[in-house]
Amino acid sequence: MERLISVVQELSLAHDLPSIMTIVKRAARELTGADGATFVLRDGPYCYYADEDAVGPLWKGKRFPLETCISGWSMLHRQAAIIEDIYVDPRIPTDAYAPTFVKSLVMVPIRTVSPVGAIGNYWARKRLASPEEVRLLAALADSTSVAMENVQLSQTLERRVQERTVELLASREELAAKHDALVHMQRQKEELAAHLVHDLKSPASGIMLSCMCRLRSTGLSDADRKRWKRIYAGAEGINRMALDLLDITRSEDGVFTPNPCDMDLQGLLEEVVEMMSPLAEGCEQRLELRMELDWTALRADEELLRRVLQNLIDNALRHNPPGGTVQLLAREGAAGEVELRVLDQGPGIPAEMRQAIFDKYKRLAPGRDERTLCGRGLGLTFCKLAVQGHGGSIAVEANPPRGSAFIVRLPRGR
Ligand SMILES: Nc1ncnc2c1ncn2[C@@H]1O[C@H](COP(=O)(O)OP(=O)(O)O)[C@@H](O)[C@H]1O
Ligand SMILES: [Mg+2]
Repeated sequence: MERLISVVQELSLAHDLPSIMTIVKRAARELTGADGATFVLRDGPYCYYADEDAVGPLWKGKRFPLETCISGWSMLHRQAAIIEDIYVDPRIPTDAYAPTFVKSLVMVPIRTVSPVGAIGNYWARKRLASPEEVRLLAALADSTSVAMENVQLSQTLERRVQERTVELLASREELAAKHDALVHMQRQKEELAAHLVHDLKSPASGIMLSCMCRLRSTGLSDADRKRWKRIYAGAEGINRMALDLLDITRSEDGVFTPNPCDMDLQGLLEEVVEMMSPLAEGCEQRLELRMELDWTALRADEELLRRVLQNLIDNALRHNPPGGTVQLLAREGAAGEVELRVLDQGPGIPAEMRQAIFDKYKRLAPGRDERTLCGRGLGLTFCKLAVQGHGGSIAVEANPPRGSAFIVRLPRGR
C-alpha cells in the first residue's frame, strides 16, 4: 500500500507519457512481485506494446489487432483478465507467447469507460493472482489514467499557449509596423506644421510692419486709418496663431521649454497695449493698463509672456460688447508672485466650462458675431502651456457684474 501511495505521488509529477510508462512498468512489477510488466496503449483498432520491464523480452514496439491479444480483450471488455495458465486459455494467442517466459498473467484496462490502454503483469510460472494483487493493479491503472489525462491537458494547454504566443508575436509585429507608420505620419505632420508656420509668419510680419508705417504717417483719412488697423489686427492674429500652434506641437513632442531672462514687466505691458490697440480701436473699444505694482523687474520668457497677454486681450476684445473697456491689470499676488488680470464685460464663461476652455480646439458655441468666429481654440491652450512652463497658473473667474477675469499668476523668479 505504501508503495502504491508513493507511485501515485510520482505519477502526479509526471510531465509526459514516457515518464508515466517508466514509473508504471516498474511499479507494476514491484506491487505484485511479477517477472515482467507491459504498458500497452490503444492505437485505434490495435494494441501497441509501448514499453515493458521484464526478465526476458516480450513484445515492446509491436502492434496487434484488439481482437487477437489479451490486452485488447481487457480493453474491449473493460475488465481485468486473470489467467493462471496461458496455454489453456482460449483468449491467448499462444504463438505470440511461445518464445517468451510467460506462463500466467493479469491484464487490467487503463480507464474502465472507453479504455486508453492496459497494464500487463506476467509470471514465469503458473499461478493465480490474488484478488489483492488485482485490486492493487486496478488502483495503479486508475492513477495512470488520471496522470495520462493530466499530461494530455497540460500538453493541450502548452500547445494553446504556444499558438497564442505565435499570434501575439504576429500582432506585436503588426503593431510595431502600425506604430512606425504613425511615427512617420507624425513626423510629416510636424514638418508640415513647421513649414506652415514659417510660410505664414514671414508675410504676416511683413504686413504688420507695413501697416505700422502707414498708421504712423500723417494725412491718413479716418476711413483709411480704420482699414489699416483692421489689416494689422488680422495679420497679428495669423502670426500669433502660427506661433501658438508651433509651441503646442513642440510641447506635445516634449521639446517646449521657456527661456526666462531678466525683463521689464511695465515695458512689456505697455508694448502689448500698443500692439493690441489697433484691434481695440477696430472693435470700438478702449484698452486700459493699470499698473498696481511698485516694482517692475521680472524673470520670464518675454516672447512667451507677450503672446499670452496678446491672446487674452484678443479674446477679451472679441467678446466685449462694442463701446466697452478691456483692462489689463498688474498687481501683487501671493508671496513672491505677480498677478496679471485681463478683465472684460462680455458674456463670461459658464462655471462648468472654466477648465475645459483651456483644452486644445475647445471653443464655446460661437455666436453669429464675426469677431468671435475667427479663432481655432488654440490660444488658451498655448497660454496654459506657457504659464505652466514658468511654474505659474492660469484661471478664469467671473468679473461681476458682467464679464470674465482671466488671471495669470507667475513667480517673480528673482
Ligand atoms: N474673454 C472671453 N469671453 C468669453 N469667452 C471667451 C473669452 N476668452 C475665451 N473665450 C472662449 O474660450 C474659447 C477658447 O479660446 P481660445 O483658446 O483663445 O480660442 P479662440 O479664441 O481661437 O476661439 C473661445 O472660443 C471662446 O468661446
Ligand atoms: Mg483666442
